[in-house]
Amino acid sequence: MTYEHILVRTEAERVGVITLNRPKALNALNSALMDELGAALKAFDADPAIGCIVLTGSEKAFAAGADIAAMAKFEFHEVYRDDFITRNWETIRSIRKPVIAAVAGFALGGGCELAMMCDFIIAADNAKFGQPEIKIGIIPGAGGTQRLPRAVGKSKAMDLVLTGRMMDAQEAERAGLVSRVVPAEKLMDEALAAALTICGYGQLAVMAAKEAVNRAFEGGLSDGVMFERRLFHALFATADQKEGMDAFLTKRAPNFRNA
Ligand code: HXC
Repeated sequence: MTYEHILVRTEAERVGVITLNRPKALNALNSALMDELGAALKAFDADPAIGCIVLTGSEKAFAAGADIAAMAKFEFHEVYRDDFITRNWETIRSIRKPVIAAVAGFALGGGCELAMMCDFIIAADNAKFGQPEIKIGIIPGAGGTQRLPRAVGKSKAMDLVLTGRMMDAQEAERAGLVSRVVPAEKLMDEALAAALTICGYGQLAVMAAKEAVNRAFEGGLSDGVMFERRLFHALFATADQKEGMDAFLTKRAPNFRNA
């Protein structure tokens, strides 16, 4: 498949890399881009050679939000009927392999929400996060009022959503939105190294780990702990568990077969 608004490549034959590519609009998200992103994520998820996906933008912008030029003329019946821009958010949620967001520059509005849909965020030291929708007469529409408070707590989420201010990478790391901050020129190296580390593990355990952590954000603690326990026990049915533990005990590198 050829894409117009994203670039897609494979690194080391194991990492799928998707680059948002609308440079003139700071990677503003429109329906066509989101459709392409959904298709590319699904293709990598279905490819057995791929163990991890990295989603990134440019040095200036991960994504500056939904495309305001496209949105400006829409009426309620159109955005509701077409599930404007948010229809592929469920696709992103359904991806079972890890997705790392490598964020440089602006991650605003839908861009911040898109980064939050990823499993973790590695930020360049020039990254800026925010939910500025309030400034243009709307509110976040793709999880900003829900995922942001879970990530950074109510007070900072309210501050960001109500004032529309941006926070820099250091503040985002202190608040727990991003997992690490790295020099901008090292961003892709760090993200790819993390992805390759993950690719080195058994895919069954990796997928189970992602599923279990995501469960922490649904329902109550007892249910979540029981869900984790069931997956933990289930992994004892895999050859990778035998291999991983034997490799540790015999002091050699494991050879995972994703089985
Ligand atoms: C359309 C955008 C855009 C956007 C930037 N551009 N953001 N176009 N939609 N969200 C365009 C500008 O119009 C401009 O085009 C070019 O990108 C460069 O932007 P500048 O403003 O000149 O750059 P700069 O001065 O560096 O300012 C960067 C910025 C600012 C602070 C990021 O562009 C900005 O505030 N953008 C809007 C951010 C925002 O409000 N995001 C939330 C959108 S609502 P030209 O043609 O003039 O060169 C949203 C709802 C999500 O995301 C709902 C669910 C998904």
